[in-house]
Amino acid sequence: MMKAIVQDRYGAPDVLALREVERPSVGPRDVLIEVRASAVNSGDARLRAMRVPGGMALFARLAFGLFAPRRPTLGAELSGVVREVGSAVTRWRAGDEVFALSGMRMGAHAEFCVLPEDGCIARKPAGLPFADAAALAFGGTTALDFFRRAKLAKGEELLVYGASGAVGTAAIQLAHHAGARVTAVCSAGNAALVRELGADRVIDYRAEDFTKSDARYDVVMETVGALSFRQCERVLRPRGRLLLVSASMGQMLSAPWFNATTDKRVIAGPVTERVEDVEALAHKVAAGTYRAVIDRRYTLEQIAEAHTYVDTGRKKGSVVVTIG
Ligand SMILES: NC(=O)c1ccc[n+]([C@@H]2O[C@H](COP(=O)([O-])OP(=O)(O)OC[C@H]3O[C@@H](n4cnc5c(N)ncnc54)[C@H](OP(=O)(O)O)[C@@H]3O)[C@@H](O)[C@H]2O)c1
Repeated sequence: MMKAIVQDRYGAPDVLALREVERPSVGPRDVLIEVRASAVNSGDARLRAMRVPGGMALFARLAFGLFAPRRPTLGAELSGVVREVGSAVTRWRAGDEVFALSGMRMGAHAEFCVLPEDGCIARKPAGLPFADAAALAFGGTTALDFFRRAKLAKGEELLVYGASGAVGTAAIQLAHHAGARVTAVCSAGNAALVRELGADRVIDYRAEDFTKSDARYDVVMETVGALSFRQCERVLRPRGRLLLVSASMGQMLSAPWFNATTDKRVIAGPVTERVEDVEALAHKVAAGTYRAVIDRRYTLEQIAEAHTYVDTGRKKGSVVVTIG
């Protein structure tokens, strides 16, 4: 048996309960990881409440459970120690310290999590605390995937809207070290943080509306879900790319029309999780060019408080839950 956070219905943070459940079984190609830390991400909070971007509700319920979650334990990223491996596993051994994306399988808000050996698992950078390792992958792999699809190039001007969140703080660092010039849009209180991460310019969205300014960008990354195509199109250079990390169904459906009728391109849709990206993040941590930004820490028992904070939509980087 093990402790896990379970929910029997969608709703407010009080639907989350700490229970004793069966420890997941290990198939021949699986690894059992003892979870030391996990993150409560914006995606966890959305799924807990079934609060999804406009027009996505039916698809989300079909995918995750019509009236109640099909997988009752949330948690899409974790760090921990491999405790058991299946008979056919060659890549991992008991005792290995790792961090991983459990992604759509979820299940990381528990004492143990089973993942396939070829899942998004990487060795934890030496000396990095488990809490920091647990928050490396969600924002980092999202930014890497969108930048790859956008072909973000050295010397290009990138604007990140929602720059102080998990995706934003990762995006700033990864783009800065890839040689892009980064403008970060966030609230004034987070200006020092985003500058420290590598932003060349910071805009406080309460003081200045960047969509009405004369500055132009090669790539705009919108992580908040608050801006329209037309607002962003105005500030994109010819052949500019608009990355809608949190796109509504309407935006996804109208993206092909936008792409066909302008000299700019919208890139939206779910991220493809790749083990190469998780490994690349580990290398960047070792090289000192990437780190997880951690806002608050909670214990597994305090998970409802962690969700309540994530629900504010104002966290800085990640919220981490330590286990055991
Ligand atoms: N496509 C995919 O597969 C994929 C993958 C990962 C994430 N996502 C989605 O991407 C979104 C961002 O994720 P996240 O984890 O980075 O979120 P987050 O950590 O909750 O960050 C949200 C950030 O948005 C800023 N913000 C809130 N309200 C704002 C407003 N009205 N105007 C401007 N900024 C505002 C806040 O900064 P201030 O406090 O400074 O205002 C906060 O730091 C989520 O909707 C998530 O579901 C999608």
